[in-house]
Amino acid sequence: MLTAEENSVLTQVGPGTPGGEMLRRYWHPIALATDVSDESPTKFVRILGEDLVIFRDKSGRTGLIADKCPHRNASLVYGRVEERGISCAYHGWLMDCDGNIIETPPERNDAIMRNVKATAYPVQVYLNLIWAYMGPAPVPPMIHFDSLFRGDVHRKIVVHPQLDCNWFQAMENSVDPAHLQVLHQEFAGRGGRVPESTTRGFTDDVEMYEFYLTDYGVMKKRTYKNGLMDEHPLIFPNILRQGPSTQFRVPIDDEHTIHVHVVCSRADDGDDMSDAFDPPIEIKEPYKHPADAMHPVAKFTMHHVIPQDHMAWETQGPIADRSIEHLSFSDRGIALLRKLTVEQIARVGQGLDPMPVQRDADHAIIDTKLDDGIQQQQRSRAPGVKRGVMDKQA
Ligand code: FES
Ligand SMILES: [Fe+2]
Repeated sequence: MLTAEENSVLTQVGPGTPGGEMLRRYWHPIALATDVSDESPTKFVRILGEDLVIFRDKSGRTGLIADKCPHRNASLVYGRVEERGISCAYHGWLMDCDGNIIETPPERNDAIMRNVKATAYPVQVYLNLIWAYMGPAPVPPMIHFDSLFRGDVHRKIVVHPQLDCNWFQAMENSVDPAHLQVLHQEFAGRGGRVPESTTRGFTDDVEMYEFYLTDYGVMKKRTYKNGLMDEHPLIFPNILRQGPSTQFRVPIDDEHTIHVHVVCSRADDGDDMSDAFDPPIEIKEPYKHPADAMHPVAKFTMHHVIPQDHMAWETQGPIADRSIEHLSFSDRGIALLRKLTVEQIARVGQGLDPMPVQRDADHAIIDTKLDDGIQQQQRSRAPGVKRGVMDKQA
């Protein structure tokens, strides 16, 4: 149970909030590379509570700039892109990708060009995603996680429907292994069986759950009574590494979240590896109807694991009220994540980097048990093998 103040620290993402400042120390995937093109060169996005426009100028550079023009606030979504940047549709002020104002029609106002800057953030295109860094300089490199940087695996991008709730609910779920055997009992661990009790689902398959800290976050470990074991890393602050997937939960604002997965699979000798860094993109259909409605108007499809998760996360509320919860022993991973998050927010407040920000652009690839995760998926898909306790963990 948390106070309202403690809950705000964990859930607020806007500029100037403690949690928002911590989240601004990371590169986040904010859109698909295909979202901007020569034919459609601008896209509105809200990220970490800020209204922004992604644009592609006629030199082929990608920019991320405040939606409101620094002149008199018209939206730059309607700006015309040019060789040097984006020109506001209203009076033509021209901004480059760094937010510099380089023309101020109808006059030339040198004072404004010298002293005023549009809010703009660095972006890079990688794995067919547009990534943004919205924190202070110096800009850190993207962190070289194995699932994002190894060249010897196939990749695809899976875009799930927008989550209409706070990002931290999805992350608490990532250190909540006990829910798998109950929430997902129709799909995960079934192996042709029917649980004796829908209340316990396949809970009694599990011997124990453990949690421990790593250099990059929290490891959750499940040991089954049949001797099998699985570990899924939570990469601080907003990524779950589960099996072959790397699951990003990027806050749009306090009550909405982007949910995108980078999914790896094994490569065999002689494979065409062009998808390793140029992955195909799959966009999932809505998991609720009407797609833009909220609980209780919206009805979730519950037709697979991730739609079930979306139901659980969204129906906790746009921002879960943690003053009315009752944590139990099985929630100790959640207590650990909250404590870790508060500690990392405090580090940022002291001017330090939060985990696992790297400063060396050539740092070694970080092992997040990708090979184990890919094998786990292969085992569950092998011909003749019944789907068992190792498949579709979440
Ligand atoms: S509002 Fe953008 S140029 Fe005037
Ligand atoms: Fe789940």
